[in-house]
Formats: sequence, C-alpha cells, structure tokens
Amino acid sequence: MDRPRITIFDTTLRDGEQSPGCSMNVQEKLRLAQQLDRLGVDVIEAGFPIASDGDFEAVQRISALVRQPIIAGLARACKGDIDRAWQALQGAARPRIHVFLATSDIHLKYKLRISREQCLEQAREAVRHAKSLCADVEFSPEDATRTDVPFLCQVVEAVIAAGATTVNIPDTVGYTMPEEYGQLIRTLREKVAGIEQVTISTHCHNDLGLAVANSLAGVQEGARQVECTINGIGERAGNASLEEIAMAMRVRRDRYPYETGIASEHIYPSSQMLAEITRVPVQPNKAITGRNAFAHEAGIHQDGVLKNPLTYEIMTPQSVGVPDSRLVLGKHSGRHALALRCEQLGHPFERRELDEVYRKFVVLADRIKKVQDSHLLELIEEVKAAGKKIPPTGAGLPFTRAASAVGSTSESHPLPFPAPAPGSVAPGVSVTFGDHHSEQEDYLWGV
Ligand code: KIV
Ligand code: ZN
Repeated sequence: MDRPRITIFDTTLRDGEQSPGCSMNVQEKLRLAQQLDRLGVDVIEAGFPIASDGDFEAVQRISALVRQPIIAGLARACKGDIDRAWQALQGAARPRIHVFLATSDIHLKYKLRISREQCLEQAREAVRHAKSLCADVEFSPEDATRTDVPFLCQVVEAVIAAGATTVNIPDTVGYTMPEEYGQLIRTLREKVAGIEQVTISTHCHNDLGLAVANSLAGVQEGARQVECTINGIGERAGNASLEEIAMAMRVRRDRYPYETGIASEHIYPSSQMLAEITRVPVQPNKAITGRNAFAHEAGIHQDGVLKNPLTYEIMTPQSVGVPDSRLVLGKHSGRHALALRCEQLGHPFERRELDEVYRKFVVLADRIKKVQDSHLLELIEEVKAAGKKIPPTGAGLPFTRAASAVGSTSESHPLPFPAPAPGSVAPGVSVTFGDHHSEQEDYLWGV
C-alpha cells in the first residue's frame, strides 16, 4: 500500500531567522537554501519580502537559484505585502504566496483591533488578491489554536472558497497539546466545506516542548504538510524540528506510515551548516543533531554498542550523515571502549596490561570530565615508564605525544570512533577479553 506523502515545508530562513541571534545575510541564506534543496525539502519559505530589503533580495535570489522546491514568500493579509512578495517571487520556478492573518480574539482585540467580521472579510480579500497573482496560495490563521473553533472553521471555509490551496494551522504560541491539536485538525476536516480540495498544514511552536509531538498528531489526523526548521530554531523556544519529524517517521514507520522526500544523510551537514552560519551551537543533547546524540559514555552502553549498535542506537549515525559514532571516554567508561581507543592510538593491550592502564584511567577520569587522546597517550607513557612492558605498534601510529600536545583538536572534540557493523565487534579490535567469567566481570564492573 502506498504511504501518504508528507510535504516538508522548511521555514528556517523565515521563522527560524526570527530566532534571537539567528539572522543571516543574503549570501548565507543562498548557501543554506542550496543545502535545503540537497536535503530534499519540498518548500522553502525564503523570507518575508516586505520586512526588509535584505529579505526581499534573499527571496528574489533564492527564487532564481533554487529551482526544484517551491519557494514561498510570506505576506500579511494586505495588498502591499502581497504585491511585494509576488515581486520577489517573480523568478521562481514554483512560487507560493503565504498570507497570514491572526484570528484569535486576543489578537483581534489587542493587536489588530478589528472585529471577527472584519477579520473574515480581510482574509477573504487577501487570498482573492494573492490568487489573482499566483496559483499556489497558502493561508495561515495566526494563533489558530487559541481561536474560537466555529470562527476558525468559518475563516478556513472562506479562504478555501477564495482560492487558497494550502491551509496552515499555526500553534503560534506553542500552547496546544497533541490530542487537542489532532482533534482540531479532525474538526476542520469534518466541518469545513471544501477542505478536501486543499492541503492541511501544521505549524507548531515549541514553548512547551511539544512542537514535534503536536505536528505528528496533526499528521495522524490528516495534515499532509509539516512546517519545521533545521535544529528546531525559531521564534522564542523555536519551531518543530525538521530532523526530528523526518526521523520519527522513518524510525517509527510502524506508527507513522508516511513518506517524505528528505534525504536523511544530509540532515547532519545541514544542521552543522546552520550552526556555523548563525554561530548558534546546537544544544549537545539535541535529538538527532546534537553532538551527544550518538555518544555513549556509560561502560555498559559502550560495551553493548561495540558488540552490536542495535543495543543502544535506534538509528545509525550514518543514516543522518554523522560521520561516525562517538564513544566518549569518561569516568563511566569501561575497558572495552578503552581498549578500542588504545588500539586506535597504536597501543593494543593484553588483558593484564589493559587492567593497569584502566586503573590509572579511572583515577584520571574521576578528576576530569572527558579523557582526551592526549591524556590517554600520557597515561600510557606513564605506565610504560613505571616499568610495565607495553609495546606500541609503531607503524601507522596516528598520534605521537608531541603531535597531540601541540596540535590535536581532541581537546575540544573527542575523536570519532568508527561504528562497527551491526552484529560485529568493531573492526580491528584485537583485544581478547578472556573467558566467560571475565566478560561477566566486564559487565558488572560497568566496565
Ligand atoms: O507562528 C505563526 O503563526 C507564524 C505564521 C506567520 C505562520 O509563523
Ligand atoms: Zn511561526
């Protein structure tokens, strides 16, 4: 059976850019837009052309350069904004005008100071005008999740009649809960005339940490477009994270049987490019793209992953473009991981020799958070100097003490460990762990 295709609408360059400290210049936006194209997003919201000349130019130049995805330009529900967006989109192969107008009573009363009737009329008129320019028109009732539901249905029905082709339901303030958001999408599908002619879209903010869960709940109730950003950047707590949505659908196909066009191996490079451009680092424990997302420090975990990555990894790092799994050597690490790292540094050990290094390693790891290669090499030297017979392999030694002291980047970044193939111990590990008894001991030690 064919799985429904979910349109991935990336708004990193528009809503994402509204994130404090995340503004980008035109060149940077062009670079990122090309990367988003490689990643396989279906729609790139390239900016809000009326907002600034820079935004206008970015939308214009991305339209000319990036030909495969739809390029969307944002506009408030007024003629000036819509005309400006359309002007910026002129060169696009597949342009979309995205019109928004708030519909909640809070916004109508305090921000826009208009009545519901005026709101309804303005939305209808704006979409009609956008449609007279462009075949592809998206409408967003801003703050939809705090809008009176019958009124929301009325607005959505009106914009569909006026020509909207996508109706986006923003949880602008990140207020909704998954079952509530799913119910809202269901209600729209049940109550709004003409809804089957348009694509329903989710647009969830993360103020309560539920943006991804809410988006997935919307998809389960029939939404077929998800608006999201790389690394989940965006206004306040951010938007739903593109990589989390794409990988949730891939890893849990059994629960979310949907397809996207995302080429997942481009996820990590996209995340890194965004972090580099904005100089806003990815939170270390961020799902999928954080530097700890595939790191294993606890001895039991390291031991398991080395025996078979399936023990503690639900997806391979390679599947999202992370070059290698990383085993961080710290105080919870065990002999299995330590042996592998020593081997990679050119020092394969017999069990007894390894024990000696391990004892010193534990003392050191108790003092410092992360044991780097340079520390490990020093420690090996110390053990050797103390008269223990630990022969280095010599040939192919990737690091010398001097080299690691002067130039190793391992001080700030633990070096990656090659991930073993599923079902095998890491290639090249020659350490033998002895009999069954010592394997048990490894495990219990937390080795
Ligand atoms: O969060 C929001 O409501 C928006 C709209 C402009 C779609 O970003
Ligand atoms: Zn938003």
